Amino acid sequence: MESAQEVLVCQYTNCLNNGSAEVLAAFVANPVAGVTVSGCGCQGQCNLGPTVRILPSNDWYCRLKPDDVAAIVEQHLKGGKPVTALLHPRLHPQELHQS
Ligand code: FES
Repeated sequence: MESAQEVLVCQYTNCLNNGSAEVLAAFVANPVAGVTVSGCGCQGQCNLGPTVRILPSNDWYCRLKPDDVAAIVEQHLKGGKPVTALLHPRLHPQELHQS
């Protein structure tokens, strides 16, 4: 059995200023069985917020907009394939160069 996934959406100052409350709301509005969605504190990637981290795979997304959430829900959380175009470029350089 796959381990449960967790979505952490930064709700600290810089990310909030860039719309992370709306990104969190979009994840909450698109629930996936077995996936937990939570707001969290600063994740140290403030200049590229809103920052979202998926566990246990430890995939990082950056500069997310609420409109990006549906693709992450369908392709990543349900389908198991990260949305490479939205991954954090410094934390996922190899994945981005493959696509
Ligand atoms: S404020 Fe969101 S990563 Fe720092």
